[in-house]
Amino acid sequence: MSTNPGAKTGPTELSRSRGGQRQSTSPTLSGIEFNRNPSEAYTWLRAHAPAHKLELTATTWTWLLTRYDDVRAGLQDSRLSKRPAMASPQWHKVPLGLPADLRESLLAQMSNEDGETHLRLRRACAAAFSSGRQRSLNTQVDTLAGVLIDQLQGQPTADLVADFAYPLSIAAIANLIGIPQQLLHRLSQSAQVIAEGGVPLATTLAATDELEAVCAEVLDLHAHHPSEGLTADLLAQIDAGTLSRHEAVANLFVMVVAGHETTTSAIASAILALLAHPHDKARAHAEPSYLTAVIEETLRLQAPIQNATWRFVTEPLTLAGQPMNPGDPVLLSLLAANRDPDIFPDPDQFRPGRTGRHLAFGGGPHVCIGAAMARAHAATAVSMVLDRLPSLQLAVPESQLEWWPNGITRGLTHLPVLIDRR
Ligand code: HEM
Repeated sequence: MSTNPGAKTGPTELSRSRGGQRQSTSPTLSGIEFNRNPSEAYTWLRAHAPAHKLELTATTWTWLLTRYDDVRAGLQDSRLSKRPAMASPQWHKVPLGLPADLRESLLAQMSNEDGETHLRLRRACAAAFSSGRQRSLNTQVDTLAGVLIDQLQGQPTADLVADFAYPLSIAAIANLIGIPQQLLHRLSQSAQVIAEGGVPLATTLAATDELEAVCAEVLDLHAHHPSEGLTADLLAQIDAGTLSRHEAVANLFVMVVAGHETTTSAIASAILALLAHPHDKARAHAEPSYLTAVIEETLRLQAPIQNATWRFVTEPLTLAGQPMNPGDPVLLSLLAANRDPDIFPDPDQFRPGRTGRHLAFGGGPHVCIGAAMARAHAATAVSMVLDRLPSLQLAVPESQLEWWPNGITRGLTHLPVLIDRR
């Protein structure tokens, strides 16, 4: 997602200071220790610096909000703009390596707009997420999950991120968009580079160009071979003059970037949670409604997008007690909000069925457009694993599992498992 701190190409060292002054007890919001226990840092921030001035680079910083009520209000606050043009000039001087910093053409998508323009771009995609359209996509995902599990059955070990959750999630997006088989590999490769980051800027740039080119080719292919689905919807709106071609391409781009890695993380985190909680695993296998609760609790506890996408202050205002100026960037920490003990008692405990509305899909006008799709696909994926891989076990101690090391998104890099103990 352009301007998406969910992209792993963003700043990696999120050190702490407040009001421009460094604090001696500052937690680091990235790295192995933080990923093992993000709650410790967020607990400190909620208590001592609920609007925290977070340094991103030597010259770039952002406000970071961590209390549930503040984050929820921020998601609704129309004084916070999603338009990168609203950022202070200082912000623009330091490219953070995110797609929107890199390619002007990709700015024209819903996540980067406010008000009427946002609504127009979002509505252009809305029909593809209707329950009727999603039903047929779910059937395709069900079939694909079965094929992937067939390939795993009988193998002694696997990585459920690389061998299951990722290919399933990227294929689901490909089906949504209508990506033909011959473009799938290019789509998958470029999306993975953009999401994973940790590569030279030139590599991210090349992958961004490649994914943009794939989206443009898809649009052209569908123009020549009339079809149904998201891309056909966008083409119809181009024909009607309500959408430009580059807006259509940018919206396809954001679907890929926003949709595949998040769903991958949700699936892998839910499987991990169930492996760590055998009682919940047995119950989720027996009761579909409990599986739904497991997915929700996983999304709360391991929010795949730790921080919502960038927002920029448009007028002098005060958030979480902190005066802010026009142009200031604001990050809303969804993971910190989801672990706020005022809303979720014993927030680090995995307790499916607990009350309280988590913010893993954001809220307000930019609430995730793919939430229902992600929930359905995660449930399908986990349910099939429970059904068909009953003797699944972690192949390494849980403490050895690695999370993406950036403090931005939250997801397992790998989920090594033992499949067949016979
Ligand atoms: C578990 C999986 C997912 C999670 C946790 C997730 C999370 C989020 C969050 C937190 C936002 C709001 C960001 C903000 O307000 O700054 C968002 C927006 C968005 N998501 Fe998702 N997402 C998921 C899956 C998907 C899927 C499957 C798609 C599409 C196929 C998708 C497409 C989008 C788009 C296009 C937006 C921008 C909406 C707008 O600006 O109006 N997401 N997502």
